[in-house]
Amino acid sequence: MGETPKWKHAAAGGERDLKKLFPQLQEYCSPRVIGEVNDVFVKITKVIGDDVPWHTHNGEDEMFYMVKGSMQMQLRDKPAFTLAEGEYFIVPRGTEHRVSAERECWMLLIEPKATKHTGDVASKITKTIEEQMGS
Ligand code: NI
Repeated sequence: MGETPKWKHAAAGGERDLKKLFPQLQEYCSPRVIGEVNDVFVKITKVIGDDVPWHTHNGEDEMFYMVKGSMQMQLRDKPAFTLAEGEYFIVPRGTEHRVSAERECWMLLIEPKATKHTGDVASKITKTIEEQMGS
């Protein structure tokens, strides 16, 4: 089996320092689960560029917390805005949205276990929950 993947270790509570976890992410726009709280997953992801497609989560709200850097948040039919370091935002269910960043940013996500990170849109960055768990 080899070494236990770091993500299993993190999900089990081994590493509590987010600043040490983000640099371990190998890919951009590829959320990894770092913990579970009741029916939601806590995930982290690095974002750069505009590969995240417009998408909607019909049954689930999605919370973003900007740990480092900043990104553009776009909601359909609303003005785009910058989510700055230290800020959080909750995308209401059913709201089409998209995120992008000119420079690398670090984001914490809180969303139900059922949430697909690109909604019902399958794109080149879409990852299954198994992939997000690190397996
Ligand atoms: Ni989303």
